[in-house]
Amino acid sequence: DKIKAAPTRPVGPDYRSESQKPAATVSADVGIETVTVLPQTPQLIALLSIIRDKATDRGDFIFYSNRIIRLLVEEGLNHLPTTEHTVTTPVGRPYDGLSFQGKICGVSIMRAGEAMEQGLRDCCRSVRIGKILIQRDEETAQPKLFYDKLPEDIADRWVLLLDPMFATGGSAIMAVEVLISRGVPEERILFLNLIASPEGIKNFAAKFPKLRVVTAFVDQGLDEKNYIIPGLGDFGDRYYTR
Ligand code: PRP
Ligand code: URA
Repeated sequence: DKIKAAPTRPVGPDYRSESQKPAATVSADVGIETVTVLPQTPQLIALLSIIRDKATDRGDFIFYSNRIIRLLVEEGLNHLPTTEHTVTTPVGRPYDGLSFQGKICGVSIMRAGEAMEQGLRDCCRSVRIGKILIQRDEETAQPKLFYDKLPEDIADRWVLLLDPMFATGGSAIMAVEVLISRGVPEERILFLNLIASPEGIKNFAAKFPKLRVVTAFVDQGLDEKNYIIPGLGDFGDRYYTR
């Protein structure tokens, strides 16, 4: 069992001493090679503190979730392949840089995953976006697939799969199965997620050992209704309707 529950520790830049840093609960340590957890910076922890707060209204919930989503997208793009690319600057000198390689698309798990589409569009102009509608049964937490509409050439693309909440992992597993059935190899899927449960992450990584996950936070666990704890409640309700 590699995952240790979310610990509390001093948070801040390395040049400050431990006693100068305020303590906060940071992401659990996953120790799974395919799972990247965003750096637990003061900024990320403060943004998460706002969206986890039950007193936060919908306007702030949307604004601050979007900021974390932007961080996830920027980190996710680091996992795509690049090639060496040298350019000439206006002063006539070469700069040995990189360029992105390969076609991408986004796929959101509706409804909550759609909240991550704009963050992807802000970084990748005119990116193609597919949709998969999966809803968890409120009583049993079992996922049900209702609909999908995906780019025709999805099998030739890298897929950024979008869903902010990763609880039992059932919805994400079902979405990945749809992608695999359309010919997308597991190793070309990148799952971008805001908050995960340790059990969800563990099940998922065991089932798809080559699929990469980028998450902002691995939380403590699940409650008796399979909600993430401490979590932030129902993301879709808070972003869209509440
Ligand atoms: C939520 C969330 C995930 C899923 C996570 O969606 O956005 O898709 O539950 O739970 P799981 O890991 O246990 O499957 P929900 O089905 O509530 O629909 P919504 O996006 O419309 O809120
Ligand atoms: N879906 C959510 O929106 N939140 C949870 O905690 C679990 C599933």
